[in-house]
Amino acid sequence: MSFGYRAIALRGIALAAIVAAFGAPAMAEEVKVVFGSTGSDLTDFPDLVKPWEDKTGNKVSVVPMPSSTSDQFAQYRLWLAAGTSDIDLYQTDVIWAPQLAQHFVDLTAAAKDLIPTEFPSIIQSQTVGGKLVALPIFTDAPALYYRKDLLEKYKQPVPKTWDEMAASAKIIMDGERAAGSKDFWGFVFQGNAYEGLTCDALEWVKSFGGGQIVEPDGTISINNPKAVKALETAKSWVGTIAPAGVLSYQEEEARGVWQTGNAAFMRNWPYAYSLGNGADSKVKGLFDVTTLPVGAEGDSSAATLGGWNIAVSKYSKHQDAAISLALYLAGPEAQKWRAIHETHLPTIQALYDDADVAKAAPIIPQWKNVFLNAVPRPSAPTLGKYNEVSAKFWSAVHDTLSGNGSAADNLAKLEGDLTDIKGDNW
Ligand code: GLC
Repeated sequence: MSFGYRAIALRGIALAAIVAAFGAPAMAEEVKVVFGSTGSDLTDFPDLVKPWEDKTGNKVSVVPMPSSTSDQFAQYRLWLAAGTSDIDLYQTDVIWAPQLAQHFVDLTAAAKDLIPTEFPSIIQSQTVGGKLVALPIFTDAPALYYRKDLLEKYKQPVPKTWDEMAASAKIIMDGERAAGSKDFWGFVFQGNAYEGLTCDALEWVKSFGGGQIVEPDGTISINNPKAVKALETAKSWVGTIAPAGVLSYQEEEARGVWQTGNAAFMRNWPYAYSLGNGADSKVKGLFDVTTLPVGAEGDSSAATLGGWNIAVSKYSKHQDAAISLALYLAGPEAQKWRAIHETHLPTIQALYDDADVAKAAPIIPQWKNVFLNAVPRPSAPTLGKYNEVSAKFWSAVHDTLSGNGSAADNLAKLEGDLTDIKGDNW
């Protein structure tokens, strides 16, 4: 008996020490966060959140989603419309803020110390009606990945135009196949019918001088000869330098072909950089990145602006813990961790001058200007209708790439569809 009493007393002393160190112990809470799995995000997550769990005594659990942002959006919309309290935090794509804003907590006050350290344009992209609906965790702007060793072997330059890229891709592919690499391809990208194709095709169109689908002032601009030319060019790659199966590729399928050493060029986001240099990668040390090609000399390269954020659900029953976790996930410690381990571009300005980041992930300082000049998708001008607009656009592009109608016919029809969706106003 007396022994038991002593044990309880000792536990009491230990508890007193914890209280002294961390303040009154709140009841440990379990916070649920939902996000899609791309690259190593999901497997890395326990390590990323461990410092927050240790500090707060709370636990984080993950509800994993498919990696397609379009599939995630559909599921999030259902949960949020139903007001579920099962999810506390949602990882959200940069384009969704206007469409999901009403379901999220305003983080302006909670993030008052973090906001001044961020790029103002990124904070603005997550601000709807004066409410900061999500905190940026990383930004995104794609690169043209190329095999340095193979450009050298076949005496090809780093391509400047899409046609130069296609010509080099063909030479390298023919050479590698003749040497026995039967599965070798010239170029891989994201050709599946989903949001990723909107990103790729916006880059083709914009880099041919064909505008941004819907311009910042709301004008529907997509039906023009430069956009037609851009899509015809992309169509010419399918089944020649790119596998026919590229029409179902998302980011991870493209990376799979690339990282097993079976492609000369790849369009992908920066996350593929650290994975491509991983111990198990066949292309480790053999590749570099450059900006995406242009339509013709004199045109400008275009990279679609991507990026992810963390939002706190209004329906969460653990709002304080969820806000604390959101601040941690968006804060400098987690952003630096992601930059170093996952080559995700930070949204905190100072990390572009951080020596550890530059050493582990040279693409990050190199990509600062690329993302600062990246082209936004028209989610701001089309407001709540962006998802419909994007779905019409990626369908018209997918049809064109599949040989289902000409680029000219599909873009003319798209203009009509977008005009209907717009109605009197966006
Ligand atoms: C990347 C981008 C995101 C984009 C998606 C498309 O995850 O960060 O903004 O919507 O790719 O697949």
